[in-house]
Amino acid sequence: MRKQVIAGNWKMNKTHSEANEFVQATKNEVPSASAVESIVCAPFPFLQKMVEETKGTSLEIGAQNMHFEESGAFTGEVSPVMLKELGVTYVVLGHSERREIFEETDEVVNKKVHAAFNHGLTPIVCVGETLDQREADQTMDHVKSQVKKALEGLTVEQISNTIIAYEPIWAIGTGRTATSEQANEVCTHIRKVVGEFASTEAGEAVRIQYGGSVKPANVDELLSQSDIDGALVGGASLEADSFLKLVEAGKHE
Ligand code: 13P
Repeated sequence: MRKQVIAGNWKMNKTHSEANEFVQATKNEVPSASAVESIVCAPFPFLQKMVEETKGTSLEIGAQNMHFEESGAFTGEVSPVMLKELGVTYVVLGHSERREIFEETDEVVNKKVHAAFNHGLTPIVCVGETLDQREADQTMDHVKSQVKKALEGLTVEQISNTIIAYEPIWAIGTGRTATSEQANEVCTHIRKVVGEFASTEAGEAVRIQYGGSVKPANVDELLSQSDIDGALVGGASLEADSFLKLVEAGKHE
């Protein structure tokens, strides 16, 4: 059985002291890492302290982006080497906000996914369609193309260890969640795409999260679907109580 992976994506929210309050309230309350993976992806300035504070607990810390180069003249960027040295274990890549607002292409996302594996970070690769694409019946083709381009050139083992987050853009921050059937239909499709692209085993192993207005009230229904192995959560991951309810929902005994 694939272990569920619940990740909060704080985006550009919280102050340092608010981040610390959250960590103190959650780090000893999350279920054991053998039952569910509980991750908070926080802004860069908070990462070092959060990693230090959560050592020895089941709460893992991730970043929300990174550059693909190890170092160099890239003003304002953060490298995989820096994240790894801090003790960060996951990195969100290709989030729709990075693709749309910061014009990240599939090629850049692919370079970042390679860089993550080269530095021992687990990538959480985001894919998903716009409302226009959904209405034009392009969802499956678009997501297939994003998945294949993101995973291009990886080994089968790396693909098996990738986390893919299916986040329909029209459901992000809108309160409009995909129905669990809509979400599962695309996650099943992604698993099939990975199976054909890499191997049947990789398709079975890869973990696929759903993201888009996930909250304690709808998480059980989403996680009960056959091909949804977790959630990538924005707004509802900001409060400790709400985050703890989400990770509890992902728990397998
Ligand atoms: P919301 O949960 O706020 O809709 O955000 C989803 C998201 O973009 C997570 O990466």
